[in-house]
Amino acid sequence: MNRILIPVALATFVGGLTVLAFSQRPWAPRQDVEQPIPFSHRIHAGVNKIPCQYCHEYARRSQTSGVPPVQRCVGCHGDALVGGLQPVTRPWTDHAQPPFEIRWNRVYTLPDFVKFTHQPHIWAGVACQECHGPVETMDRVEPVHEINMGFCLSCHEKRGATQDCFVCHH
Ligand code: HEC
Ligand code: HEC
Ligand code: HEC
Ligand code: HEC
Ligand code: HEC
Repeated sequence: MNRILIPVALATFVGGLTVLAFSQRPWAPRQDVEQPIPFSHRIHAGVNKIPCQYCHEYARRSQTSGVPPVQRCVGCHGDALVGGLQPVTRPWTDHAQPPFEIRWNRVYTLPDFVKFTHQPHIWAGVACQECHGPVETMDRVEPVHEINMGFCLSCHEKRGATQDCFVCHH
């Protein structure tokens, strides 16, 4: 039974993905993402050398790196520890207003049929920059590499990591 089912399942899986390959790829990293606040990685991670994982604290531990909660910004900007920020500090320190979170727009996404987690990469010592480029030089995050299957596989081959279809695909 399995002798028939496995090839059929595989063919369906590959067929489905191939159709996707020729359709638009809505998950391709975007070059033109606008953010609600002009947050600059160059100023924070570059000039002021704030470690990536101070803000993206979940990268090491879980699937997503996440973006920092506004509380993290307030830690530095709330009491005017850092000057020159009136327009953005005001709502953070105005206790008359209900608390809010900043809605950042995503730059990187992957399709649902790919499993990606940051954790094994960070534990294996892969630098953020190998995938995201020199973020610490960017005023606005822009993808440097197109994150496609070839990109994943060429590094996996070099580093002796998995090439098994079902480790990356559901
Ligand atoms: C560890 C401290 C720290 C944290 C956390 C932090 N900042 Fe900053 N931020 C700074 C410093 C230092 C500057 C540079 C200020 C200067 O040069 O006058 C700055 C500058 C800025 C500026 C002005 C940039 C410009 O064009 O001059 C904005 C906007 C800003 N931060 C937003 C944020 C937001 C949003 C967050 C949370 C996601 C955040 N910051 C978290 C330290 C921090
Ligand atoms: C002071 C906090 C802070 C530090 C330090 C920081 N980031 Fe960020 N990061 C943010 C915020 C806020 C966003 C969401 C806004 C944006 O995309 O610019 C973000 C977004 C990103 C994104 C885009 C996520 C997406 O898909 O939308 C990447 C990639 C990223 N950061 C990587 C890094 C790397 C690599 C470093 C270290 C070199 C770093 N960050 C340091 C706060 C920080
Ligand atoms: C092996 C490549 C790779 C490395 C290394 C890597 N990332 Fe990512 N990152 C990705 C991919 C791919 C996505 C899109 C994930 C998705 O859509 O599920 C992403 C998404 C993100 C996001 C968007 C929010 C989220 O969690 O999905 C942030 C922020 C981010 N990365 C920050 C970092 C930081 C900070 C580091 C270093 C500590 C890092 N990344 C290392 C590939 C990488
Ligand atoms: C720059 C190098 C590099 C890139 C790019 C990269 N990886 Fe990896 N990946 C690694 C390394 C190194 C490991 C850890 C191998 C180990 O621990 O044995 C790993 C591990 C993994 C694992 C865990 C494997 C397991 O056996 O549990 C998955 C899943 C994975 N990567 C998926 C991806 C996906 C999906 C992409 C593309 C979005 C990607 N990787 C891009 C280097 C990379
Ligand atoms: C290291 C992780 C990884 C492995 C291993 C992997 N893939 Fe993928 N694959 C991806 C990512 C990421 C995408 C989606 C990004 C893209 O290419 O658009 C993808 C997309 C695809 C697509 C859609 C076409 C395309 O390129 O967009 C097909 C078909 C596919 N994979 C088949 C396979 C088969 C068959 C295997 C086993 C031989 C395999 N993949 C192994 C990461 C992986």
